[in-house]
Amino acid sequence: MIIQNLQLKNFRNYSECSIDLCEGLNLLTGRNAQGKTNLLESIVVLSTTRSHRIAEDQKMIRNQSDFSILTCIYNSEGNQHNLKVILHRKGKTLMKDGYPVMKTSDFIGEIHTVLFTPDDLRIFTDSPKERRKLINQVITGVSKSYMNALGKYQTLLKERNILLKNERVDESLLLVVDDQMAVAEAAVYQIRKEFIDFINTWIGKIYERLSDEKTDLKIRYMSQSDSSDPAVLMQKRKAVLKRDLEFRVTTTGIHKDDIIFEKGGVNMIDTASQGQKRMVILSFRLALLLYIKEKTGKKPVLLLDDVLSELDHIRQVRLLNMVAEKYQCIITATELPPFIRNLKYRQFHIEDGMVKEIREGENERR
Ligand SMILES: Nc1ncnc2c1ncn2[C@@H]1O[C@H](COP(=O)(O)OP(=O)(O)O)[C@@H](O)[C@H]1O
Ligand SMILES: [Mg+2]
Repeated sequence: MIIQNLQLKNFRNYSECSIDLCEGLNLLTGRNAQGKTNLLESIVVLSTTRSHRIAEDQKMIRNQSDFSILTCIYNSEGNQHNLKVILHRKGKTLMKDGYPVMKTSDFIGEIHTVLFTPDDLRIFTDSPKERRKLINQVITGVSKSYMNALGKYQTLLKERNILLKNERVDESLLLVVDDQMAVAEAAVYQIRKEFIDFINTWIGKIYERLSDEKTDLKIRYMSQSDSSDPAVLMQKRKAVLKRDLEFRVTTTGIHKDDIIFEKGGVNMIDTASQGQKRMVILSFRLALLLYIKEKTGKKPVLLLDDVLSELDHIRQVRLLNMVAEKYQCIITATELPPFIRNLKYRQFHIEDGMVKEIREGENERR
């Protein structure tokens, strides 16, 4: 999957822009606050329908404008398509190939992206809820059955918690809910486990290739459910029924799952340096590229926001060598990395929401 063209109208600090991207490395350069992250954000919105930075869509509409239009033309398995997201003051409209798409879930998954930003270090210190969100976002992008099972579980969980809040709890009704919940829970557990197993076959290898440091880096899946058998999950829920009744809430289940990054069986949050943590998350993101490709048969687009400058020279080279010829990469940086000349790339300079392609040799004259 290749994004061939991106057009923005009244998005963030862009009034109007159109940019033709190449299949390999695309470098967006420019000083701070010129619109580099905004451009990556627009691609994230086209991929997931929402921003990775803010919850409120309307904040992305250019100041003093009433709407934003984001359009991309992309090539998927030899066919050209286009996607459009229109943000209005009262909501948004999604379109594919000129037709409105009513369900968000039908829009997500057209363009797959993997984004890595300096903010990603937060994954270590965030709450388990944020880590679950991250996992859910990745898997729902590639699996409708996961999306359905998770949605069902969340609906039933809400119903169950309402039942538990009643003055007198109807235990037979609770049992009916539990029965259905165990089926959805088993499916979610199974797919999450497969996801983590897949990542674990790659994350250590990628880390080693990037940093030349031997490691047995692994993600540990922390789940109280720990089974993909609905009957077992029913039993587990029965065993904590007394506690649930006492606390008037569902105290266990896959809504409490978490992941831990471990090296040698030790949680890295306490032992790893900032630099190592950055490499861990970068390796995790790169493993996601492989996961998405495996599940969808399509190559995702890699978005790297301002991260080259945080890596030493040799790691920058290793990273770009690893991805540049395999994936479409869109990378922001304040300056062009010096070794980039050895690679094929396209450069776009961004200044105050205006994008200009820099042709070879033009940098010397600037
Ligand atoms: N809704 C908006 N309307 C107009 N300008 C905006 C809007 N949101 C953000 N900006 C501007 O975008 C700029 C920041 O762009 P950003 O892409 O984050 O910069 P960088 O190039 O450092 O990544 C700031 O100047 C900010 O004022
Ligand atoms: Mg930025």
